[in-house]
Amino acid sequence: MCGIVAYVGQKDAYPILINGLKRLEYRGYDSAGVALFETDIIVSKKKGKVQELVNFMDTRPRNGKIGIGHTRWATHGVPDDINAHPHSSGNGRLTLVHNGIIENYALLKAALEKEGHKFKSETDTEVLVHLIEEIQKRDNLPLEEAVRIALTRVIGAYAIVVLDENEPGKLVGARKASPLVIGIGENEFFLASDATPIIEHTKRVVYLNDEEIAVVRQSGEMEIKSINNEVLTPFIHELDMEIEMLEKGGYDYFMLKEIYEQPNTIADCMRGRLNAEEGWIKLGGVDEFANRIANAQRFIIAACGTSWHAGLIGEYLFEELARMPVEVEYASELRYRNPIITEKDVVIALSQSGETADTLAALEMAKEKGALIYGIVNVVGSSIARMTDAGSYIHAGPEIGVASTKAFTAQVTLLTMMALRIGYQRGTISESYFRLLLNELASIPAKVERVMASNQLIEYIAGEIKDRPNALYLGRGYNFPIALEGALKLKEISYIHAEGYPAAEMKHGPIALIDENMPVIVIATNKSAYDKIVSNIQEVKARKGFVIAVVTEGDTVISELADHTIEIPDTEEPLTPLLSVIPLQLLSYHIAVMRKCNVDQPRNLAKSVTVE
Ligand code: AGP
Ligand code: GLU
Repeated sequence: MCGIVAYVGQKDAYPILINGLKRLEYRGYDSAGVALFETDIIVSKKKGKVQELVNFMDTRPRNGKIGIGHTRWATHGVPDDINAHPHSSGNGRLTLVHNGIIENYALLKAALEKEGHKFKSETDTEVLVHLIEEIQKRDNLPLEEAVRIALTRVIGAYAIVVLDENEPGKLVGARKASPLVIGIGENEFFLASDATPIIEHTKRVVYLNDEEIAVVRQSGEMEIKSINNEVLTPFIHELDMEIEMLEKGGYDYFMLKEIYEQPNTIADCMRGRLNAEEGWIKLGGVDEFANRIANAQRFIIAACGTSWHAGLIGEYLFEELARMPVEVEYASELRYRNPIITEKDVVIALSQSGETADTLAALEMAKEKGALIYGIVNVVGSSIARMTDAGSYIHAGPEIGVASTKAFTAQVTLLTMMALRIGYQRGTISESYFRLLLNELASIPAKVERVMASNQLIEYIAGEIKDRPNALYLGRGYNFPIALEGALKLKEISYIHAEGYPAAEMKHGPIALIDENMPVIVIATNKSAYDKIVSNIQEVKARKGFVIAVVTEGDTVISELADHTIEIPDTEEPLTPLLSVIPLQLLSYHIAVMRKCNVDQPRNLAKSVTVE
């Protein structure tokens, strides 16, 4: 959830840290801080965004070729200057930044207080740096050994980087359940929560695994050990991201850039995996466990938020195309039940970040119960990606906007290919329909491009409803999850209360909400229940509701009924979500901009929820 950056090498650390924190700010922005080490360690930290810290640094020392930085999303202790990271040990010798939660911090704190430790902050993190101090002092240990022993006593999630004033030129990093990436330069190292602060300096990275500890030195040496003190040989990846992927590319917000990237990202998701001419789909992760997946008794999809909405579409796809029983679960609910999961089940995790704590925990539980764990993830090398038995990356590229857009359509694309691939193997889809859907799926990127042409109309419609206090989204079948997704988009970036409902559910209560002040957005592209959705629109109009309908190009019936219609190209019903979601993404974006909301970093939210 937070962002960690650290540097040791031959250059001034401060500009590297600050630029890195700005790239990670999407992970949380309650406070920010740096610790710079020249002759001694100087900590500077401030509540608020990174810019607050930059302003503060005008009056602070900025020297040092080694340092650590942090941008916080608070879990223990309110966002203020004291609770901001970095945190120091009682003797001032150690300084640490942390992403995650130390679940047993209260017990550890009580024991340390008995030893005379005094704490300044309310955070769990400060307890950890005092624990390392206590262990180091007791046995006069080198930093990395004190860190290793301390972590064996910690329960919870952590990505940390630690400095020791008595051991200059050295950084110690460690992780468990929260991510930490090491960038390898020429006699310099970069540590960060993900690769975005690193890529402009080097493309050679090591993804630290759970319960691994890294020691990197100004001399250019790196050592990686397990928490059990085994020396490990790191695998060095070559990043394939380009720096411009991280810039806004001329758009006002990352979210708008990412909405417009979708023709490319959907195509990228299919690249090398789908060949319409030759009529095949290849998914490495599925191929590796083809029989076990095709003969599973059930798929359980576990996810949160927008990814959960993608999972609901997956349910329709797997049931229709692969005739596979599916259950879609909120990961946060699944993990605390005692569900019946067996080795005959396949548990599919959907997660853009690959770091969502609830999803990770649900997967760990399912793994213990013997299920095959399949990950559909965006961030390469993320925790979920590394703990699954198999998986597929969605190749949507870095998604910086907190509101997920391109990752959602990439997830749905991947699920569609997976359902087709498994249905073909199970013989539950005819060759002709398989080929038809392959060709139609291959044409989706161009059709998404055509939906963008409605942007100005959508902006105009946004102006008509931007001040309404509520909104209702209705959809049926494959478009019911799109109604939920459209409502979430509006809620999370414009702060307007919105609900998504199956259209037929209207008459079971929500219709009481309809009056001239209630905008009702109806996704009405269904062929299978078209007449029913027309009736739903008539019911709303009969009560003076304001109807915005997403319809298939050429629809002449609904355009007579609705106050506004937004046309999307015709496609096969299982593929409509990839098109019908686009107008809803744009609608929420324009409303949020008109309401002067911070579209990329909405209040109270963070891009990756790595705490429970
Ligand atoms: C979506 O717009 C939200 N940012 C949020 O619901 C998000 O989808 C959820 O936190 C799950 O994140 P993940 O896909 O990274 O696991
Ligand atoms: N639990 C720590 C805190 O509340 C770290 C939170 C984070 O990951 O940003 O300070």
